[in-house]
Amino acid sequence: MDKLDVKINAKSAYSYPIFIGENLINNVYKLISDNTKAKRYLIVTNETIYPLLGKKLASNNSEFIILPDGEIYKNMETLIQITDKALEMKLERNDAIIALGGGVIGDMAGFAASIYRRGIDFIQIPTTLLAQVDSSVGGKVAVNHTSGKNMLGAFYQPQAVISDTSVLKTLDERQYKTGLGEVLKYAFIEHTCSAGKDFNFLEFLENNQNNILKREDKTLCELIKICCTLKSAVVNADEKEKGLRAILNLGHTYAHAIENLTNYKKYTHGEAVSIGIKMVFDLALKLNTVTKNYYDRAVNLLKSYGLLIKTDEVFDKEMFYHVMQGDKKVTEGKLKIVLPNGEKSVEITDNIDKKIILSGI
Ligand code: NAD
Ligand code: GLY
Repeated sequence: MDKLDVKINAKSAYSYPIFIGENLINNVYKLISDNTKAKRYLIVTNETIYPLLGKKLASNNSEFIILPDGEIYKNMETLIQITDKALEMKLERNDAIIALGGGVIGDMAGFAASIYRRGIDFIQIPTTLLAQVDSSVGGKVAVNHTSGKNMLGAFYQPQAVISDTSVLKTLDERQYKTGLGEVLKYAFIEHTCSAGKDFNFLEFLENNQNNILKREDKTLCELIKICCTLKSAVVNADEKEKGLRAILNLGHTYAHAIENLTNYKKYTHGEAVSIGIKMVFDLALKLNTVTKNYYDRAVNLLKSYGLLIKTDEVFDKEMFYHVMQGDKKVTEGKLKIVLPNGEKSVEITDNIDKKIILSGI
């Protein structure tokens, strides 16, 4: 088992561990009880995950809330169901909420933990690749609103993250590939993350493709460890996304518009992200911020993992831009784009001409 420590804000003393390994779920309460003083737990999960993993977490000190499965349920109504269940259980201030699921469950359970009795402990047990490499780390918790994704939320860090690679075996191929969309983004931002060490993650992904696609545990542990180290370096420098943290959204400004304009039905988040990453690379090539060589390498990597790189939708360009502007990453009306600007590095820009931004749509 690997253990990473995520330090939040260099000046604060707060940090939490991320445990990464195979079959950690079989002994999960030892890891949990080492990291919280909670006596009782509310486990938030969904109808797909409960039959797969519920038994492993059943205990005399815990109760489950089993939610319907899907992004469409990531809303205030479901959030209230979670807090109602916590109230019904009379969960106390020093008890804890456990998120057992993908990013949807993690984001909602974390938000519920942040508001229940003004905040109780929260443990993440991410069960999708996307959640293990991204959403379980860094404390962004939220629900969607009709006006947009993740519009209501908070920054609320967990007490611990427990990432077990063995649980990824039951993920269907589409969801696994969805996670790979977020994985590949780290290869293109690695240098800008300033993690203090060179992981050569782009080369790692190029060289370990078979093992990664086969979900081989040791390779996955290494992959998750690198992604979480890169992410935690960024979160450590900029927890509340005042600047640097926006680089984790490479491709996301396009992706959010694609998801929104297809009513969150046609593409998973990670599929929209891989399309969005290709779109920002197209933009970078047009703006000459990357070489054709590096552009080809990036596009080949996306293709070689079988990720989506284009949409067959015909979008109205003005509408697309309007929706991009509705993204939370807009400040004073300026559209921020995370732009590749060299090998493995990106910059955050807000001065790209609208015509150029829209030319690839
Ligand atoms: P998800 O949570 O909807 O899970 C995808 C599907 O896989 C669901 O049907 C789920 O029931 C199923 N599933 C989960 N674990 C499984 C397992 N082990 N075996 C079989 N099936 C399993 O989707 P996701 O991709 O994990 O997360 C997407 C969400 O994460 C979005 O809401 C997005 O906004 C959010 N997100 C948050 C952050 C953050 O920093 N908080 C970052 C990225 C994405
Ligand atoms: N997934 C983007 C972030 O955590 O900031």
